[in-house]
Amino acid sequence: ALLEKFRDNLELGITDLALLNDEEVYQVELEKIFNKRWNYLAHMSEIPNKGDYVLRSIGNDTFIVSRGEKDEIHVMLDVCPHRGASICRASQGNSSHFRCPYHGWTFKNNGELVGTPAYKEAYSGLNRKEWGLTHAPRVEVFHGFIFASLDKDATDLKESLAGIGWYLDMIFSLQDEGMEVLGEPQRFIIKSNWKTAAENFSGDDYHLMYLHASTYDIGVMQIPLKENMKGYHIQAGNGHAVSFSIDMESDAPLFFFYPEEIVKTFNLQNLSQKQLELARGSRVCVGNIFPNTSFLMLPLSPDPKNVPPTPLFTWRVWQPISKDEIEVWNWFFMYKNTSDEFKQASYQAAMSTFGIAGTFELDDPVPWESITKNAGGTFAKKSMKLNLQMGMEGMGTAKQVMDWPFPGIAYYPRFEEGNQRHMYRHYVEDMLKDE
Ligand code: FES
Ligand code: FE
Repeated sequence: ALLEKFRDNLELGITDLALLNDEEVYQVELEKIFNKRWNYLAHMSEIPNKGDYVLRSIGNDTFIVSRGEKDEIHVMLDVCPHRGASICRASQGNSSHFRCPYHGWTFKNNGELVGTPAYKEAYSGLNRKEWGLTHAPRVEVFHGFIFASLDKDATDLKESLAGIGWYLDMIFSLQDEGMEVLGEPQRFIIKSNWKTAAENFSGDDYHLMYLHASTYDIGVMQIPLKENMKGYHIQAGNGHAVSFSIDMESDAPLFFFYPEEIVKTFNLQNLSQKQLELARGSRVCVGNIFPNTSFLMLPLSPDPKNVPPTPLFTWRVWQPISKDEIEVWNWFFMYKNTSDEFKQASYQAAMSTFGIAGTFELDDPVPWESITKNAGGTFAKKSMKLNLQMGMEGMGTAKQVMDWPFPGIAYYPRFEEGNQRHMYRHYVEDMLKDE
């Protein structure tokens, strides 16, 4: 009933605070969203060698993501089929086999059961082939980014990414070599509901002028505030959303302010004419792959007096831990075919702004945690509806761009919350879907 009311109110640009901290809702989300949708797990460059593995999660289940002996990728539930214990004790490493700490059942890194201690006395007659690790039903790789779906009937990743696939393709295709990870992912826990973070990256550019004002004051962010709001919100289908700060009129190609020597390494032939047109005018790109994978490319300066703004790319998962907590997984990436100096410079710009103690990163959890706390208030959850009306008919200056030449439905300028409404429209559709 809460969800049906939510669906109806959404058309009026109204959402329910209660949805951001509710046990029953969270359990349905695990089932109908995280167990159905494509979830990002890891990047190929995190497991470059045979036998490399990382431990990752989808919803509240843990998976081993491994590279097997034939260079193939496996995504396997980290649950021993003997008595259910966790098998993998490290968050990453290299191993040809995994051995369960409880009774020592041993699996190859492709999941096959190959060892059962005291086989003769205990198990002669057991068909080991039937008792390997459980694989995620669907695994697909998009430009090196490994996704899995726990729904064997899920539509293909590419199709399910809908319009956002086109925009990501534009970013990842700029260089033939694609992107690689810089360092290990940072992880930290914040007491926020996952949807609040996803909402923010879907299209909340509005908060920059207030919450992140200090980054403008000290010159970390140098694209003028009002200028930066010039751009588009794009509802990319299936709940995915992306937003560009853009200057299509610029004479000089912008390419996110990558320095000339990097732009020279771009193979612009990889892009369609339209992708090229967009990349050329782009200053900032931020988006959310529904449900909980967000990304952001923009130029920032770690040290405004001495270092010019340097493009960085952060990619993050808002991993739900409970109804009111997430573990933030935060990766930084850079184009592979760039100098070590440039990678270092980008990493530094990224760490000092969107790292754990970054000038931007420290700001957002403050309101996010308060929203989640408030959503747990007995009176507040009964009585609070929230406003998500920016840019609706008759509200502000945002207008739909009727002849938008790229995928999705676009609005200009970015004073607009249609992206968030788009996310929630698909959210509630997933939540109300019958099996
Ligand atoms: Fe894993 Fe027994 S639970 S070997
Ligand atoms: Fe922010």
